[in-house]
This record gives sequence, structure tokens and C-alpha cells, in this order.
Amino acid sequence: MGKKITDKVTWVGKIDWELKYFHGNEYSTKKGSSYNSYLIKDKKTVLIDTVWQPFDKEFVSRLKQEINLKDIDYIVMNHNEIDHSGALPELMREIPNTPIYCTANGAKILKGHYHQEWNYVTVKTGDTLVIGDSTLTFIEAPMLHWPDTMFTYMSGENILFSNDAFGQHYATESLYNDTADTAELFAEATKYYANILTPFSKMVIKKIEEVLSFNLPVSMICPSHGVLWKDNPTQIVEQYLTWAKDYQENQITIIYDTMWNATRKMAEAIALGIEQADPMVKVKIMNSSKEDKNDIITEIFKSKAILVGAPTVNNGYLYSLGGLLEMVKGLKFKKKSATAFGSYGWSGEAVKQISDSLKEAGFTVSDEGLRLLWVPDESGLEACIEFGKKIITTI
Ligand code: FEO
Repeated sequence: MGKKITDKVTWVGKIDWELKYFHGNEYSTKKGSSYNSYLIKDKKTVLIDTVWQPFDKEFVSRLKQEINLKDIDYIVMNHNEIDHSGALPELMREIPNTPIYCTANGAKILKGHYHQEWNYVTVKTGDTLVIGDSTLTFIEAPMLHWPDTMFTYMSGENILFSNDAFGQHYATESLYNDTADTAELFAEATKYYANILTPFSKMVIKKIEEVLSFNLPVSMICPSHGVLWKDNPTQIVEQYLTWAKDYQENQITIIYDTMWNATRKMAEAIALGIEQADPMVKVKIMNSSKEDKNDIITEIFKSKAILVGAPTVNNGYLYSLGGLLEMVKGLKFKKKSATAFGSYGWSGEAVKQISDSLKEAGFTVSDEGLRLLWVPDESGLEACIEFGKKIITTI
């Protein structure tokens, strides 16, 4: 059954408690997720977004418990990635002529995914759809986070349907932010921003400022994943503005991989040096082959500086760092420092290669890094401690 969220709006999505990975295996979803879809019943009936394809039959069948499908006047697709559009083919088999309101890019994406000539109605920012006492206003939000993305604002109920923006991969039965586990909710919202929205931060700021300039009253922000922001709904908007402005905390994260623990010993000694030089800085150490890659990305997001270490193997560095550095490059972090380190036995190229990758990813790399031959002895560990102290002075 759906969950009524206002007199006119019912949540008809799917809570996916079992989901463990999203975007293939690119994003870990340890707390599950939800695909939020909304049914508006005013003088006209509107469905906003659908759910992921594995739940298409369940979605349509539950929708039938809410309404005769033929009574749906309009479908609004704020974003057409498969987690939101996946149930459309199943739905459109039943109501093939229902108009689908989306951006021009949205129509292209739907055609590209499903190869159907449905009744697309393309909209732009400021276009409206009167549905009775309420009016829907469309606001294009390209690259937040796909070219087709838009928001839909419902007057009267004062709800902003924001799709992925302000969402989290977080399953919660109660739906709302004030009844969710706050620590879990903000951890998932941070992870979501860090891993998905970081490259689009400039556009996040611009779009939020544009939407704020409309001075729309907002009673609720209803994204397409996770909680509905009902208690102090604009807190997540303010949080996004903070995150979008090159966010960092007083944190340094040391990320490494190791074969026989030489580079691990270096990482731990460097951490000791940092802590001795600045006891106020939060230092975290993460083995990239053992930790969740998205958790590492979240810690990088929170850091003012990172250190990245690996031994040299086959004239390069280790596999787990290869994948991680590729992710980091794509996320386009700004205003963060980075330094490389690692042990070696003979050729020793890894530190320079890691430094080059970090520079390419946009980090400020002001030190050539620290290389140690074989396993560090007492003097080697002392060199690492001193290196950690020096890092503090170069950030
Ligand atoms: Fe939740 Fe971009 O899809």
C-alpha cells in the first residue's frame, strides 16, 4: 500500500532493504535504498517518477490498489535513469497514451533506454501544469546529476520533488527525516554527496541560488531516494551549499595498500608524526584493499589533505589504488593537498606515479613524497614520523 504524505500526495515507491550495491558495483548501499514515487490526486491525477525495473510488476500492482491506472492524467519523469524509469515499460503497457512530462534530454534518454514512441511532452524551467487547486512548476536542473534532471514544485502543498538531489541511499520504513536514525541519515547523505555530486558542485550552488531566488515556500522536499525532508526541510539545502563549497574538515586521511606490511608501517608512523605535530587534527588510516571504496571517497571528501601509499610492484603500484585513484580523478575534488609514500625494493617508481595521478586529479602536491628501501627500521620509522610532522607545515 502507498503511504499518504499529505491530503493530496501519496508515496507509492519501493523501499529496498536488501540492496547492497548500486550503479553496478560502483556504489555500496550498506543501508539499502528506496525508489520514491509519488501519486498526486487533485482535480487531475499525476504520477511522479517510477521505480527500478526489478520491482516493476510489484509497483504497478500496488499502484492499482491506489487508483484505476486509466485515471492517471499525467506522468512526470524528473529524471530517467533506470532506477526511476525502470517500471515505465510495465506501466505504459497498460496506459500507452498517457502524456509523459520530462525535459528534452529526458525524452531522448527514455527513447534511448526503451525505444518507445510514448507521448512525450517536453518542458523547460518555468513551464507549469495546472492540476486543480495546485500547480506543478518545472525547474530544469541539468547535471544534477544527469543532463535530463529536473525538479517539480507543487504549489498549495509546497512540495519540491527534487529527484536524486537531497537524496540518500537509505532504507527507512517511516519515510521522514525526523523519524530516521539521524546519525545514519547524515552519514548516508554525506556519502551520497561525496560519491555522486562532488563533480557537479558548481552547478549545485548555481541551481540552489536560482531556486532560492524564486522565494517559494517549501513545506517538504521529496527526493527520489531515502527520507522525505519534512522537519526543517531546508536544512539539507543549506548542507548542500556547505558541501558544494570545497568542503573540508580538520582531517587528514592516509590511504595505502601493502604486500608485506612495510608500507603499512610507514602509514602508521606518518600518522604518529601528524598527531604529534597537531593533536587537534583527525587522522584516519584506511587500507584501500580492505575498506569500502565509497567509504574511502567519503573520508577524502571530508579531508583537507590525504596521503596515498603503495609499494612498487612491476614498475607500478597496487591494484586497489589504481581503481581508487581513477574514481578520485573523476570526482574532481578541489582545494585539497596530497602526498605519496611507499616502500620499494629496487626500481621504486610507485611514489612518483601516485604523485602524478594525484596532480592529475587536481590535488595540490607540494612534496615529492617519501620512499623507503625495503622494510623500515627504527631510523626509517623515525623518518616517517618526521615526514608526518612536515606534512602539517605544508598544508
Ligand atoms: Fe537515482 Fe540518477 O538516479
